[in-house]
Amino acid sequence: MSKITKLDDIVSLCKRRGFIFQSSEIYGGLASCYDYGPLGVELKNNVKKAWWKSVVQMRDDVVGLDCSILMHPMVWKSSGHADKFADLIAECKKCNTRTRVDHLQAAAEDKKTDKEIELTKQLLDSMGGSPAEQTSRRQSDIGGAIDSIRQHTEHIDIDAAAAKAQDLSNKICPNCGAVGAFTDPMPFKLMFETQMGANVDDSMTMYLRPETAQGIFANFRNVLDTTRVKIPFGIAQIGKSFRNEVTTKAFIFRTREFEQAELEFFCEPGTDDQWFEHWKEARFNWYLNLGLKKENLRFREHDPDELAHYAKGCVDVEYRFPFGSGDWQELEGIANRTDFDLRQHQRGMRTLNKWYETNGDLAKIELSAEAEDYQSGPLSYFDDQQKKRYIPYVIEPSAGIDRSVLAFLVDAYDEEEVRGETRNLLRFSPALAPVKVGIFPLVKKEGMPEIAVNIYNDLKRYFNCFYDEKGAVGRRYRRQDEAGTPFCITIDGQTLQDQTVTLRDRDSMDQIRISTDGLKTHLRDKLDL
Ligand code: GAP
Repeated sequence: MSKITKLDDIVSLCKRRGFIFQSSEIYGGLASCYDYGPLGVELKNNVKKAWWKSVVQMRDDVVGLDCSILMHPMVWKSSGHADKFADLIAECKKCNTRTRVDHLQAAAEDKKTDKEIELTKQLLDSMGGSPAEQTSRRQSDIGGAIDSIRQHTEHIDIDAAAAKAQDLSNKICPNCGAVGAFTDPMPFKLMFETQMGANVDDSMTMYLRPETAQGIFANFRNVLDTTRVKIPFGIAQIGKSFRNEVTTKAFIFRTREFEQAELEFFCEPGTDDQWFEHWKEARFNWYLNLGLKKENLRFREHDPDELAHYAKGCVDVEYRFPFGSGDWQELEGIANRTDFDLRQHQRGMRTLNKWYETNGDLAKIELSAEAEDYQSGPLSYFDDQQKKRYIPYVIEPSAGIDRSVLAFLVDAYDEEEVRGETRNLLRFSPALAPVKVGIFPLVKKEGMPEIAVNIYNDLKRYFNCFYDEKGAVGRRYRRQDEAGTPFCITIDGQTLQDQTVTLRDRDSMDQIRISTDGLKTHLRDKLDL
């Protein structure tokens, strides 16, 4: 039976075997930023390849795109990110740590330690007034803050956050444990800013994209004009996104730089519900087909009050990650974004003059109103069968590549007792395994290394292979088990007699003999790549 994986086991395996390292480790590391090592980059590339194969290559109705990370600032004005992309945060007065209000946990009265009770009392005293007065003042201030933020964010669910913010006096700081020691909630902008241009006078504030999706909307017209796509069709993209997250979490689960795989699927209004269901099923099956256990995967429908105002429906694909309280966490969101984004960009295009007039100061610009005949605007679609023009609806499956990598690692991780020893292994699906085949001469003599190198040189043209001649063969097998390599080939004494080798299966540890001539075909079949 497979063991319940702990995140610590995964982090330590990732470091030990070169999957994932802390960024800038030689300088003490950079919080929430990670580097993929030799095995990790292969795994991550395989996850991206598997997504691209399923979402683009195997479909006749999806094309790909690769947009720049820096885009015209008006993109973010139109999308709403420039004004609204914020988290509601509160700062602990004791340790100055900022935490998302919706992530704060209440301290159970009976679980408060003496230290926490004393700390809370001291803080309330130092703020002046009785605890009751404090709470009442805090609540009225919070009301004002919530109202102002309500207009500025769609990233968080303000109503839910507001409900929680009302009793911050009972909330516990996840860093130092102080209870009720928070400032009033305030919005925290999530987009990273940078400057473009060498001269101080004409340098322009730019944003690192917080999602890849907007590059797709901005290129909708280009794709329509240069390809033969007809609605329904999708545009897919994989790329880096950046968010100045307040709280980062659990290794590569929530980081400030991450990779997304997003599809914007354009369809005729009225057919959107059907496409929403289609993509829900397709995306759920993608995870299952790549080996995630069904019991660790589920859908979570968003409540109506959780939905962004433009979204008609949204469902998360959730995975049971081994952190928090063994919690279900979002892997991917699938949203019905209606015609919101294309209509917003049409408004943005009408606003461009104002942008020049204000020297690009987004804060001073209001988006122009929508044209009355917006349905025939520059981002509309002409249906030549029905002879009508409209702005298509969009179904958006948006997956996190790094989160998927983490889920695949967690799900594949296993430990078992073999002849009194612990065997650590990663039971990756062959498509995801960083190395497909390990090739070993049993000993470094009698011509075995030469045969093994020939086999290695032949097979590496088709699969990612690893050659190893050092140490006992059992230890070489264990190293490959830990890297998730599905097959190992050993060249031994019998190979010299009859040109057969042993082929060992990672999961069952069964070994069969197979002729060197048939290796490539056999492996191709088994690996199903
Ligand atoms: N275009 C829609 C969009 O960006 P989202 O739910 O904010 O939606 C989609 O992000 C996916 O991107 C998430 O389900 C998650 O897998 C991944 N993601 C978002 N923020 C992330 C972060 N800070 N670190 C790692 N992955 C993240």
